[in-house]
Formats: sequence, C-alpha cells, structure tokens
Amino acid sequence: MKNIIIIMGVSGVGKTTIGTLLSKKTGIPFFDGDDFHPEANKQKMASGEALNDHDRQGWLEALNALAIRHQKSEGAIIACSALKENYRQILSREVRSTYFVHLKGDFELITERMKQRKGHFMPPVLLISQFDTLENPIKALTFSITMTPEEITDQVVRIVNHKTEFGLIGLGVMGKSLSRNLANNGFTISMYNRHVDEKEVNVAKNFKAEFPVFKNAMAFDDLANFVTSIQRPRKIMLMVNAGKPVDYVIEDLLPLLDRGDIIIDGGNSHFEDTKRRVDHLNKKAIHFVGAGVSGGEEGALKGPSIMPSGSEEAYKVLAPYLETIAATDKNGKGCCSYVGPDGSGHYIKMVHNGIEYAEMQLLAEVYQLLRMQEKTPFEIADLIEPWTKTALNSFLLEITVNILRKKEGKDWLIDKILDQAGNKGTGNWTTVSAANLGIPATVISSALFARYVSTFKEARIELAGLYQFEKTIPQFDINTLKEAYTVARIINHHQGFSLINEASKKHAWNLNLSEIARIWTNGCIIRSELMESLVDSFTISEKEILFQPTAVNQIKSLKKSLKNIVLASVESNTPLPCFNEALTYLNSMVTKNLSANMIQAQRDYFGAHTYKRIDQEGTFHTDWFVK
Ligand code: 6PG
Repeated sequence: MKNIIIIMGVSGVGKTTIGTLLSKKTGIPFFDGDDFHPEANKQKMASGEALNDHDRQGWLEALNALAIRHQKSEGAIIACSALKENYRQILSREVRSTYFVHLKGDFELITERMKQRKGHFMPPVLLISQFDTLENPIKALTFSITMTPEEITDQVVRIVNHKTEFGLIGLGVMGKSLSRNLANNGFTISMYNRHVDEKEVNVAKNFKAEFPVFKNAMAFDDLANFVTSIQRPRKIMLMVNAGKPVDYVIEDLLPLLDRGDIIIDGGNSHFEDTKRRVDHLNKKAIHFVGAGVSGGEEGALKGPSIMPSGSEEAYKVLAPYLETIAATDKNGKGCCSYVGPDGSGHYIKMVHNGIEYAEMQLLAEVYQLLRMQEKTPFEIADLIEPWTKTALNSFLLEITVNILRKKEGKDWLIDKILDQAGNKGTGNWTTVSAANLGIPATVISSALFARYVSTFKEARIELAGLYQFEKTIPQFDINTLKEAYTVARIINHHQGFSLINEASKKHAWNLNLSEIARIWTNGCIIRSELMESLVDSFTISEKEILFQPTAVNQIKSLKKSLKNIVLASVESNTPLPCFNEALTYLNSMVTKNLSANMIQAQRDYFGAHTYKRIDQEGTFHTDWFVK
C-alpha cells in the first residue's frame, strides 16, 4: 500500500505549490482537487457562490475513489481544502495510509499573497467564510506557510518516509541527556518540547542543531507532527515535571495515538498517579509504563538505572531501547528490568530516593562531627577518602570527598554554602507511605525532617542566642566513626527494602528484591558496594537485611562504635539525627520487651481500647477506677 498525501487548508495557502514540489521530490503523482469538481460546482463557484456540503459530497467521493485506486499503485498527492472533519472522513474512507498536511497561515498573510497572484484573487469575504468553515484537524501534519515550500516538503518527506524509533517529550535537563543517550546508542528519535510562551519555541530544533549525533533525529514544535514521525507502535517517553503536567501531556497525546502505542513516564511521579494512568490508558488500548529513572544529568546521558512498571507486554517492546541506554552491572547486564505491575516502578524509585536522603544525611553528619573536631574540609576529605577503597564505597561517598576538596579562591566552597536543604517531595512520599503501611522507616524520615529543620534558619539563629548551649569538641576516633557509619547504612538499607517488601505484599506486586538491588548497582545515585552485596544476599535469603547472617555478624561487632558516636554527639551537643535514629531503631528491634505494654494500658485506661495479655489469649478491658 502506498501513501496518500492530502494537502489541505483554506484557499490561497499554496496547496498546489506544495503538492507539485512534493510530487517532484517523491515521484508520487499530484492531483489538483479542483480539477475533479463536476460542471455544476464549477459554474456555481464561477458565479461567486460558495459550495455547500451537498455540492461537495460527490466531489469528495470522487477524490476518495481516486485515492483508493492510487493506494494500490504509486500513491497520490491530492490538493483539497478538506476544511471539515466530515470531509476528511470521506476522503480517507478505506484508504490505509492517509496523511493530511495542513498548511496554516493567518488571514492577512494569505490575502496579501493572493493579491500578488495573477488571476487568483478571492474576495476577502469568501476567505473569511473559509476560515469560519475550517475545523482544525487534530491528527494532520501542520506547517506554517511562513516556512518555505522547500522546508515544508522536506519535512513531509522525512516524516512520511523516515519514521523514527522512539519519541521524547520534554527537553529539560534529564530529557536532553536521555535524548543524547538514545542517539549515541544509534537509535533514531523524535523530540518535542511543549511551549507555553514564545521564548520556548524552537527549543527542540535548537537542541538538535547543537549535536551532530542528532543527524537522523527529528525535532518538533508541533505535537501531531512529532507523533506522526514515530514508527508504530509508538514509544513515547515523557520527561516532564511530575504531577499535573504529566496528565496534560497525556490528554494532548491521546487523540493523536493509535491502539497499542506506548507512553513511558520517566519522571519522579507518585506511584498512585501512575496506577491511575495505567488503568485510564488501558481502557483506551494505550499502554502506559511508569519508569523511575535515577542517575541525575550525567547518569541519564551515560547510563541511568531505569525502573519500569505497568504494562509488561509494552515492556517487551521497550526492553531493547531501555536496556541499551541503561548503565550496566558488573556482569555487563543493563541496570533496567521490568519491576512489576502498575506503579511499582515509581514506588521503588520513591524508596530509592528515601534511602538516598538518609545516605546523604549520614554523610552530612560524618562531615559535621569531623568539622566539630576542627578539621578543615580538606582534612576531612583525606580522612574519609580511604573508605572509598573499602566495602563502604558508594557514589555519594565519592562525591562528598570531591565536594570537600572544592575551593573557591582561598576558601572552601562548602563553607560558603547556606545550610538550608530543599527537596522535591519524594522523601516526603516515602515517609508518608511508610507511615501508611506501618513500617518504621525512621532513619529515612529523620533525614527528611533534618532537611525540614535546616530550613528554619532564622529560628535556629534566634534560639542559639537564647539557649547558648555549649558546643564542645566531640571525642571519637576516625575508625569508630567509620564503623558507626557502616552500621547506620545497613539499617537505612534494611528500612528501605523492608518498606518495598511490605508494599509488594500489600499491592500483590511480587517484587524481586535481589533484582531491584541489581538494577541499583550502577547508574543510580545510591549505587554502592553495599548494594552489590545485597544482590547476592537477597538471592540466598529473602529475609529482611537485619536477619541475614552477614548483617548480624557485622552489626554485632560494630554496634559499640555506633553507640560511641551517638554518645560523642550527645556529649558535645552535636545534632546527629540519622546516627541517633539508627541506634534507637536497632536497640528497639533487638529488645524483646518494649514499653508498649504501658501504651496498651494507657489506651485502655482513658478510652477502653482494650489490651492483649502475655498470659492469656483474647482481648481484655480493666475498670481502672475500681480500687
Ligand atoms: C536520582 C535522584 C533524582 C533527584 C531527586 C532528588 O535518582 O537521580 O534521586 O531523582 O536528585 O529528585 O530530589 P530532592 O530534590 O528531593 O533531593
């Protein structure tokens, strides 16, 4: 089957010029729709009267018959105003591959151009009536007539003949890096950036022009052209801000897509939104894959960790692309695999970020304790850099060493940075989810709240003045700190993976913890030696980390150091939320009898909430007021 290309638009936009030029470039024969009008229509138009729907019916059917005949042979390019949706339906009836090319121009420009064309001047009132009749087509390839005929026809030829393999919407930092990553790996891509104001026009085109690797890529400002340029089933990745923007883009895309097309959301979306979108699009026969992507700008460019979930059928189509652009693990396998149903990919990305918050905070606390010992940032870097040669190594540790060595003139840059940390919400979501599921992910939530505390700068300054607590030099040696840090990290990872495990049970996601650890061994922000070791330990035992023999042995021998670091922080009035919480959590979890019997009794006392006993089965209530 050959293509039928219908060049449409109001009179005077240059349909014949474009059709003829396109025909020259493609060898597909050109037909001017006007030549197919019956005599009666021609006479009516000559007398200056506009045609009505009834007059047009037979003419449109004749053009449709022409298209049907020609799709079997060499195809056809037909110039026809096709102003109404219903006309376009008649034109494309039983035609397999029809492209409408809509030429768009404003009234003044068209009038001006028509005046200059000999013998082709149309009274403005007739042109106005054409504009009134025009129902803008949704799926048509649309071009402004301010472009040259060469540019328009070149683009039509490219879109129709050279479809790309993958589409990307949203050219922010991550979208740009992922686009380059796809192109660097030899994939042909289409890129689109939504523009709300004029400044953002041409973002995609300018970006394409920056890198030679985009030679075969296509860049668009028009969404319909972008969608049409992609091979079916279309694979379109959204790299837009989480929340409403994702829904807006989906709604814009929906009328342009066909059954079986795939939308991938690569942003940090909330997992419940992802589930809603998977269900919503499923009803429309469109696949939706929510994919957590970690690695920041550099990772997205050179190989991120990718956590896709949702339609498994769609994932099979995506795997060759996503697994190629992802980072590779130590065995050369891509750090990307199908995570599970609905929003599970975004869920684990959310917990990834929760673990990330705590890993960052623990390192900030290491830095703070050493700074309190009056060490310079450079000395601190020297003290912790050797850890990178041990099982403690991680991406976040490495960047912390580099940060500590960064100077600005004679000063350490870190000393110039304000102590107020922002966040984009994923740590908050992790804490909320942990609370909802009843999982004490307390090291993660302490890291989140430490960021919140940091934002109260003015209050902290005032309170520091009011209380004047003496800050002394914390007493500890570097090895004790190293051991305490080792234990605190194990507890952080234990909490994060326990949360994932609980969510997996609650939603029947059947998540594979070892595989999750594997795709987090490279590309992502929390890649580390510890993560490597979890890949194997979760294969040997599905038990939570604190129950695994390696963790038991390590914590038994190192716990004292965690206690000593916490003691040093308490003695010196140094705030150390995550180390403190790691110790408290550990102490709680290894305590057979907690004080919760008192809580039970209190609840029963004031609210008759009842309680359970250790010596009898059942539920009990005591009348506490009877002596
Ligand atoms: C990643 C990061 C990335 C980003 C977070 C941080 O895995 O690549 O987690 O997603 O850094 O959005 O979020 P905050 O701004 O909340 O720290």
